Amino acid sequence: MTRITTFYPRRGRVSGRHEDALTRLWPAYGVDIAHPTEPPTDLPLDTAALFGRRAPLVLEIGSGMGDATVAMAAADPGRDYLAVEVFPPGLGNLLAVVEERGLANVRVAQGDALHLLRHMLAPDSLAAVHVYFPDPWPKLKHHKRRLIQPDNVALLRSRLAVGGVLHCATDWADYAEQMAEVLDATDGLANLHDGFAPRPEHRPVTKFERRGIAAGRQIFDLLYRRTS
Ligand SMILES: C[S@@+](CC[C@H](N)C(=O)[O-])C[C@H]1O[C@@H](n2cnc3c(N)ncnc32)[C@H](O)[C@@H]1O
Repeated sequence: MTRITTFYPRRGRVSGRHEDALTRLWPAYGVDIAHPTEPPTDLPLDTAALFGRRAPLVLEIGSGMGDATVAMAAADPGRDYLAVEVFPPGLGNLLAVVEERGLANVRVAQGDALHLLRHMLAPDSLAAVHVYFPDPWPKLKHHKRRLIQPDNVALLRSRLAVGGVLHCATDWADYAEQMAEVLDATDGLANLHDGFAPRPEHRPVTKFERRGIAAGRQIFDLLYRRTS
């Protein structure tokens, strides 16, 4: 059976600085996500050991170059940030900046976030999940690859603690509508706003948001809390 993934197969080159950061920092900061065809091992992930403390945990899915992770973790030292991404150059960049800025509350995972959520993160364990500018898969025949769809959102909700917040942002209007529809229809999630949220000041502009703005697209934020 072919696996439907939410990401594009990309083969970005890892540059010297990023490769160096990945090699040196991965043992202390990195989490390997088993390939979905491999049996899950060593589960669930011991996040207290990973961060060296027990603090509220924020998961960012598809962190790209890490713009949002760095800015939000730096402004929020009381919480821990786990960034998950399939794209190694982005993780290399994030680790290099984390080291440069001396951020103690960021760790990174490489691989499919859905596998991480399903097999490695315990139910009720996350204070927040950030999904910023997920791949839009604009063609109708590819919509099945979109991250925000009922089964995936049910999984996200189950990993959030009650009271935890799911924050999505996109520059694709029809995906924003789909997100709103799916999130509104998910039991145990409540919209924190009436419709789309005003842009939260704490969410920094990311590389893909800049692209969307440059192309003249509107930005949509959605903020939902797990209520049960
Ligand atoms: C359009 S980019 C946005 C990156 C960044 N959030 C930004 O705003 O610049 C979406 C990213 O999500 C990643 N991604 C998509 N599906 C993923 C998954 N299931 N697990 C981990 N990363 C994923 C892709 O590799 C890609 O880098």
